Amino acid sequence: MNGFIVVETMYLSLNHIPILKNINLSLDRHQFVSVVGPNGSGKTTLGKAITGIIKHNQGHIYLNDKNISLLSLAEIGRTIGYLFQNPEKQIFAPKVIEELSFALKYKKVDQKIIEEKTIEMLHLFDLYHLKDATTFFLSQGEKQRLAIASVLLNEPEYLILDEPTTGLDIKRRKELSQLIDKLKTKTGILSISHDKEFINRHSERIITMKDGCIIDDKKC
Ligand SMILES: Nc1ncnc2c1ncn2[C@@H]1O[C@H](COP(=O)(O)OP(=O)(O)OP(=O)(O)O)[C@@H](O)[C@H]1O
Ligand SMILES: [Mg+2]
Repeated sequence: MNGFIVVETMYLSLNHIPILKNINLSLDRHQFVSVVGPNGSGKTTLGKAITGIIKHNQGHIYLNDKNISLLSLAEIGRTIGYLFQNPEKQIFAPKVIEELSFALKYKKVDQKIIEEKTIEMLHLFDLYHLKDATTFFLSQGEKQRLAIASVLLNEPEYLILDEPTTGLDIKRRKELSQLIDKLKTKTGILSISHDKEFINRHSERIITMKDGCIIDDKKC
């Protein structure tokens, strides 16, 4: 199979319970793909398996032709930006500005560039007025915007977004959609969502999961 991300006959169990079964999947660099399916069908687990956060038991996952089992989480994270379903799991810094600048500081990017990029993101996600705020006290929607902004600041080649529109009001959902329109031209996106409007607007392909299996995979 060819593709930027390739999953071959992958099985994954958690606490000895089979969660993902015989997953075969190829994802391109320049496509917006939606994963849909009922609660508990394995969508989040699939996203976590691809980013190496949860280890698979059988089969293979390749990222840019490299077996992810041979890559560290940091190496995978440099290529794939991953938005957690729950932004509380993503945000760890005490202050908004620290959360945004962390990844670039870790990569030892020049301080001036960090400042420029951070301020750009603060404005883009309407968070500038909160730049010195304590992340713990942000509203749900503010946390979600901060989590997305932090992922994008890293400029990943591929994005896995788990329920990106959760907690966003109509205005912010629209703004996120406009941003995704721009991102789509240079970044592959795997979006896990229950938001029909968002799915219909962006999807070039829809993968449907049920009981840990892919039961449908079609181009739009
Ligand atoms: N650590 C774990 N141990 C055992 N079972 C788990 C664990 N984590 C998740 N599961 C189970 O795996 C299944 C798939 O969960 P997953 O979170 O991937 O579903 P989902 O499709 O993302 O659902 P939702 O739409 O609710 O987000 C569920 O039945 C869940 O209970
Ligand atoms: Mg989920």
